[in-house]
Parts: sequence; structure tokens; C-alpha cells
Amino acid sequence: MNPAISKDRIRPHQIKIFDTTLRDGEQSPGFTMSAPQKIAFAHALADLGVDVIEAGFPNSSPADFGAVQTIARDVRGASIAALARCHPGDIEACARALDGAAAPRIHAFISTSPLHREHKLEMSREQVIVHAIMGVELARKHVDDVEFSAEDAFRTEREFLVEVFNAAVAAGARTLNVPDTVGYATPNEIRALFEYLRANVKGAQGVVFSAHCHNDLGLAVANSLAAIEGGARQVECTINGIGERAGNAALEELVMALKVRGGWYAADSGIDTRKLLETSRLLSRITGIQVQRNKAVVGLNAFAHESGIHQHGMLKHRDTYEIMHPQDVGWPDSQLVLGRHSGRAALAERLRQLGYVLADEQLDQVIADAKALTQTQHVISDRDLQRMVEGERHGPGWRVSALSLTDYGQRTRAHVDLSDPDDRHVLQSAEGDGPVAAVFAALVKATGVDFELESYEVHSMGIGRDARGEANLSGRIDGETLTGQGTSRDVLEASAIAWLDVANRVLHARQTQQRAEAA
Ligand code: KIV
Ligand code: ZN
Repeated sequence: MNPAISKDRIRPHQIKIFDTTLRDGEQSPGFTMSAPQKIAFAHALADLGVDVIEAGFPNSSPADFGAVQTIARDVRGASIAALARCHPGDIEACARALDGAAAPRIHAFISTSPLHREHKLEMSREQVIVHAIMGVELARKHVDDVEFSAEDAFRTEREFLVEVFNAAVAAGARTLNVPDTVGYATPNEIRALFEYLRANVKGAQGVVFSAHCHNDLGLAVANSLAAIEGGARQVECTINGIGERAGNAALEELVMALKVRGGWYAADSGIDTRKLLETSRLLSRITGIQVQRNKAVVGLNAFAHESGIHQHGMLKHRDTYEIMHPQDVGWPDSQLVLGRHSGRAALAERLRQLGYVLADEQLDQVIADAKALTQTQHVISDRDLQRMVEGERHGPGWRVSALSLTDYGQRTRAHVDLSDPDDRHVLQSAEGDGPVAAVFAALVKATGVDFELESYEVHSMGIGRDARGEANLSGRIDGETLTGQGTSRDVLEASAIAWLDVANRVLHARQTQQRAEAA
């Protein structure tokens, strides 16, 4: 670490993580969730270690009211917040929905910027202050923990913002939230705003300042971090950065910035970072929306390296191209993707991991074959390498000859026909909760190999008529993690190929060991 870029403070500030995936995130197009989905996700957020879960806006719909109510009753380990405009009806609804929470928080807000005062609220400055006081005082009658937000705070006149916050503190607010509602701020400006507010709001020492940054210019995480530098001790964020328009600050990015650059920010959070990936994936499963491949921390490429130079560096010392360990955020490991840009070192290393120690000449041939294959295929799988080394005839084990499904409503039955290089066939069928589970269960019966599935994902490669599904999975067996890959026009077949990719290696290793023992 370059000492010039480390502030090297001694005791890190603990930053409160206020998660608003279930409110600001859920209210944006494409991310609507049912009440049971919201409840399941709230449990995941509590397991992740967030400090506050904003569960919803109870007065916006009976469904949201019900979801907030169940989360308040069932979820422990985090404060449960509910949003209210500074209207008695909204605040009473929050109080009723939060009844039963161990640590309830009412989050009352009103717009303060001139644009919103004039065109949205049609209120004078004085009227805004009266409403803010009414909202906070009424909320305090129901709960001790009241957060006040000045909507569009960043575009509000600074001295008026101080007046509103003074009134909110006097009325009993414990947290003052400063939203950059339209994502207009830049890091230097937002840092300066927090410094100004901390210096000028009466009673600033007794309250927590909070940042709530939107991502319209792609600056939400940078602005939230700058707010921390300016004295914010709570940040409002969402998993995968979902939220109104371009979204909110992404929780996983903020938390990892604090962990990796804790020396600079002199701050940390209480998040169990090893659960970041599973929480991100749970949200994707619930909403049906995947994060982009190159998304920081949780995207498929976040720890994948394809270029020869990078792979060579990674093999010598992983810190050359990685600033955090994949395991720290829930990935099993980094991935050296073998493709068109890969070099000799990575191919040789992968072959070595697969158990092949090749003479230089044979290695040259496999590398040439692999390079040729990348003209028609994006990624070279272990199975491809095995075929190149061993030849198709003596190649690896079972292949899928045919695959079909029968649907029984809740259950699915899969029928698999596998063949080996000598054209011997094995037919099996099994049931599962869905097509993939049924296919995997049938493969277990057909091959006699079983392993614990650690990860499984399918994505599409290519477009239009060339589109193919690529399945990647990892399985744990005998204390080892093996990864498998399969591609096919049919995603189910791709999944079966990926599963067999692992199973065949297990069988191959067992046969080799048996031969060695017999000899
Ligand atoms: O972006 C915003 O201003 C908000 C407030 C309601 C906190 O989401
Ligand atoms: Zn917002």
C-alpha cells in the first residue's frame, strides 16, 4: 500500500448500513416483489448483517403494509424501518405496521428543494418546516427511533436545509438523511455538504448523518463514500444497486470499498461480506433480473481473468490482478477463463490441475488445438482439453445421448440416456422439484456419482441463430471442489453436460486409483 494514499487512522468508524432494497429498490420498474418474496429477502438481509432494513412504505398499498407487518414481527437482528410522508395517515400506518418489531424505526420525509417546494408540494419554506416538525413529533409518539429525510436535499439551499434539520432535531429525529434524490452531486460537493451540515446543524453531535445517493451519473457509490469522508455515519443502499431510475448505491460495492480501503476511509461495516454473492443471487432469482457480467463484486467476470498477461500474473501472485479475495465475498475461487486471449501459462496450468503432465511437444500441440478451437468457441472447457489430450475414443466417460422430461404439475420426471465411448448405454429416470433437479437426480442414478452442488448458473452465449446456453457449476466431493461446464442449444442439455463434466472426472480419478492399487 502506498503510504501517500493511506490515512492510516487507528480506530475505524462503524458505518451503519441501511438497506432499502425492499423500498427504494422494490418501487422501481422490473423489481416489484410479492409479500412472501419481500419477507424471504428481509431474512437474507438480516443474515447478511445490515443494521437497518427499510421494509416498505406501508400506506402505499395493503400488500406493502402486510409485508412490512410480517417483516416487523418475524425478522430479528436488524432495525426495521418503514417510510412515511410527513402526513398523519402515513405515519399512523407505519406505527401500526411496525407494531411487533423489536427495533422499529419510522422514516419520515418531505421535499425541501425549491423545485419540489414550488412544483410538487406547492408549499412555502415555512409550510415545509411545519410539516417536518409535525411528522417527526407524531412519529416520536410511536417510536424512539425516528429518521428524517429532506428529499432532494442536495439541490436545497444550504441555509434552509440547516433550518429544516434544526427543526427535525428539536422535534426528536435521531438520524438526518441527506438524499441526492436525482443523482446530481459529485463527490467533492457532497463531502463539503456533509462537513457544512455537521458544522452548522444544532445538536449535530447527537444525531447520525446519513447519505442516500442515486446513480443517475453513475456516482452513487463514489458519492456515498465521499459523504463518509464528510462525516456521514449511515449509508443507504441496495443489493445490486437496484432503485429508482439508474438505482441507488450498491451495497456490495460500498461495503467492499470500506473493507478493502478501510485505511483510507477509517471506516468499516458490520456486514458478513462472505454472504454478498448469495444475497445478490437471491435477489436476481426473486426478480428474474441478472446483474451485468462486469458488475463489481458480484458479476460473473468480477474474478475471471482471460487475457494471457493477466493469467500469467495471477499464476505468479494473485495480488497482481486482484484487490480482494473471491472467497471474501462468497465466490469459490477466481477463474482463469481459457479463451482466445489466454496464453500458454494458463493453459499449461489448467492441464496440470486436470492431472496431465505433458512433454513439451504434446503441450505445444494441445495449445495449438485449443487456440484453433477459440475461433469457433468463446471458452475452452476442461472437457475440451481432456478430449484434446486423450482423444475422443478414450475420452472422458459418459455423454448425453438423449434427454426428455415428463411434467407432473409440482414434480418433474427426467429420463436420461447416456452413452460411453464404447457405445454402451445406460437409461435412468428420476423425479425432482423442477427440470434441472430431476435431470441431476437421474444423472446421479445413471453414473453412481453424487456430489454437493455448490453453485450452478446458466447464461446465453451468442445471439440470434447462433445463441447457445452455457452452464457452469461447481460441486464438492471428497473435500475437493470441481467445476464443470457445458454448452448446447438446449440449456437443460448444457446443464447435464456440465454435471457430467464433473462426474466423469470423478469416475476417471476413481478408475486411475483402482488401476494403481491393482498394480
Ligand atoms: O431518493 C430519495 O430522496 C428518497 C427519500 C424518500 C429518502 O428515496
Ligand atoms: Zn431514493
